[in-house]
Amino acid sequence: MSFILESGKKKRDSKAVAVIFVDEKNKNEAGISKKELSFFKSKAGEIFYHPGNGKKPIILCGLGDPSKINREVVRNAAASVTEYCNSRGITSISVELSQVEGQYQEELALNVAQGLLLPNYAFTKYKSENEKTLLEKVFIETESKQVKAALEKFNVLLRNIYLCRDLINSNADEVNPEAFAEMSRKLGSKRGSTLKVSILNKKAIVKNKMGLIEAVSRSSHIEPRVVVIEYRGNSQDKKVFGLVGKGVTYDSGGLNLKPGDSMLTMKCDMSGAATTFATMKSLAELEVKRNVVAVIPLSENMLGGNSYKPGDVYVSHSGKTVEIGNTDAEGRLLLADAISYLKKKYKPDFIVDLATLTGACVVTFGETVAAYLTNSQEMSETFEQSANTAGEKVWRLPLFSDYDDRMKSEIADLSNISSEKNAGTITAAVFLRHFVGETPWLHLDIAGTAYFSKKRGYLPQFATGFGVMTLVEFIESLG
Ligand code: BES
Ligand code: ZN
Ligand code: ZN
Repeated sequence: MSFILESGKKKRDSKAVAVIFVDEKNKNEAGISKKELSFFKSKAGEIFYHPGNGKKPIILCGLGDPSKINREVVRNAAASVTEYCNSRGITSISVELSQVEGQYQEELALNVAQGLLLPNYAFTKYKSENEKTLLEKVFIETESKQVKAALEKFNVLLRNIYLCRDLINSNADEVNPEAFAEMSRKLGSKRGSTLKVSILNKKAIVKNKMGLIEAVSRSSHIEPRVVVIEYRGNSQDKKVFGLVGKGVTYDSGGLNLKPGDSMLTMKCDMSGAATTFATMKSLAELEVKRNVVAVIPLSENMLGGNSYKPGDVYVSHSGKTVEIGNTDAEGRLLLADAISYLKKKYKPDFIVDLATLTGACVVTFGETVAAYLTNSQEMSETFEQSANTAGEKVWRLPLFSDYDDRMKSEIADLSNISSEKNAGTITAAVFLRHFVGETPWLHLDIAGTAYFSKKRGYLPQFATGFGVMTLVEFIESLG
């Protein structure tokens, strides 16, 4: 990916098309005659192209009623500029924001950049021909150092969001546990890397008694891995932040095989792992002054002669025994062992786990809102703020004690499925809580948000990269 987001004082670049954002009140101030503009109403997302009469061409993009301008309006309007450019071969633009007034000046530049660049992505690995061009150069005019810094930060996040999407969109056969681990090892051994990467292979997983990860992985001819990425960005600070991301590189359901339609998108079941990886890489590149350890359990969930079996009981890393009610509830098993390993070895002050964990989450919230559950009011408040700053939508679900009994088993300490059908997102979290103990913890279910069935506004179809921006913001803000 060769695009560049640059910002600074007005620059003359003869090849760049000028993009001017205007609201309904000042649409005539872009230097174009009233007559020529008579059809342009400056509605939010409306585009007007002017060839420039010998000067550089101009794209006007409407923002609509100035009293209704907010982040979503700006991002969606900017995304329509990208769509316009991508379908017409325009690859270099220079953005002027001076026409828009009001309290948004600072945020405006960032939201415009986000709206322009989050959709500026195409997954072309498996296409013989590219169908559209992408923006390669986006210059945003600003005089403000603060705005420039915010844009530079976003540029780092964006590249890692694209990477996260590429990992999720790629074939499950390509991004399998072995390949994911190898990619992580390379990241750690890059010259000057501030990330320490260690990898537990099958032998180490067995030796460390991660019986649930082992159970899930037995069905696959590819061995499981646990990737540990450590980032120590602040030696003065004693606090350690723990991250765990579900890395089921393909979820067939196991012996409780999924129906064909539900299986179709299950290469996305490592989205938690990909998001965690992209987040760690971002933290290092941004030199965030925090200490973070990520534990990423990686396995396929397949079926075969050696599959783990419904009705059997397995011993977790924590020592608690788990009866398998359904082999398709495999994510929580990987997370449980990863969480208890993280706790034992790294004693984190906070734990966040993220996973495409339950179909119930998609039933509840659809694809645009992620569910979160937490045992910590402090984490909840900071998390909401961070998600809001990032512009990603999250909503809290309760962990009332009403649900506690549902994960009990007659034969083992716990069952991996609930005794009742409903409230699936909550009961999955209730299961995880047994492995978290008293540590402040937040669980994020990204089953809907990680992977879109269709393009939505400024986010593309398929992998979205949801969570990277929120998590980086959260880690910077918490504690
Ligand atoms: N990976 C799925 C959850 C999922 C569903 C992710 C749709 C993304 C989109 C998970 O492993 C799963 O199959 N969960 C089961 C749990 C059930 C058997 C208790 C589910 O949600 O149906
Ligand atoms: Zn499953
Ligand atoms: Zn799964």
